[in-house]
Amino acid sequence: MVINKKGKLEELIDQNNLPQHIAIIMDGNGRWANKRLLPRTMGHRAGMSSLKEVVRACSDVGVSTLTVFAFSTENWKRPLQEVDYLMKLLVEYLHRELEELHANAVRINVLGDYNSLPHQCQLEITEALQITRNNTGLKFNIALNYGSRAEIIAAVKKLAAGLLAGEICLEEISEESFAACLTTSGMPDPDLLIRTAGEMRVSNFLLWQIAYTELWVTDCLWPDFSREHLMQAIWDYQHRERRFGGLSRNKQGEENV
Ligand code: IPE
Ligand code: IPE
Ligand code: MG
Repeated sequence: MVINKKGKLEELIDQNNLPQHIAIIMDGNGRWANKRLLPRTMGHRAGMSSLKEVVRACSDVGVSTLTVFAFSTENWKRPLQEVDYLMKLLVEYLHRELEELHANAVRINVLGDYNSLPHQCQLEITEALQITRNNTGLKFNIALNYGSRAEIIAAVKKLAAGLLAGEICLEEISEESFAACLTTSGMPDPDLLIRTAGEMRVSNFLLWQIAYTELWVTDCLWPDFSREHLMQAIWDYQHRERRFGGLSRNKQGEENV
């Protein structure tokens, strides 16, 4: 088991109101490196330590699903050298962390098409999925070569193919059957979406799934993001009121509407 260095805030977290599913857009690695006059790749390497810390913290605190955005379908636009480095870092991360993740009962899953990643990445991913497949702890989704619009189109195609083949009828196309065709099938939607480095956008991440997700954006750059930041985000989440289009709890019984 990992050693749990509990901070003050962590002790105040309400175990009965945890976000079941946390999603994170891990942004700001390049800016972190720029500030230190380092190459962008060093920012990505530093970001790997934050990821380790956050996965551990989610496991410790009892979050059931964590989804991190590691590489988007649009990130292929970056210089080849940077893309190559990111792929190598992924291999290194899985290679180095698999044992501990497995020991902590983490179940790894990949969202996105990893068949077009370099061969070595595919091998590491296949091994990680295989080894952790029966684990019952934290469900850890790594969004890799992931784009939400591509995911939605794939789901539409799947339903359309079923329709054309006469396997389903039009009435069977529903929010539920559509969600079942997404890569997040069977998972609860994220309760909390964290974005580091301050951008106020979702950058093609889980567009369908975040319809009612609570957003938490921090200026903190991903390599500076720590367990304490995560606890702050959870704490803030626990002090929000989720209305899902309904009314505030103290207005429920009012008759003068
Ligand atoms: C996030 O950091 C990592 C990936 C997108 C792979 P960035 O590399 O986007 O960092 P900034 O936004 O340039 O600071
Ligand atoms: C989002 O960050 C993708 C990942 C964190 C993997 P980007 O840096 O690619 O997003 P934009 O370009 O600022 O929207
Ligand atoms: Mg960025």
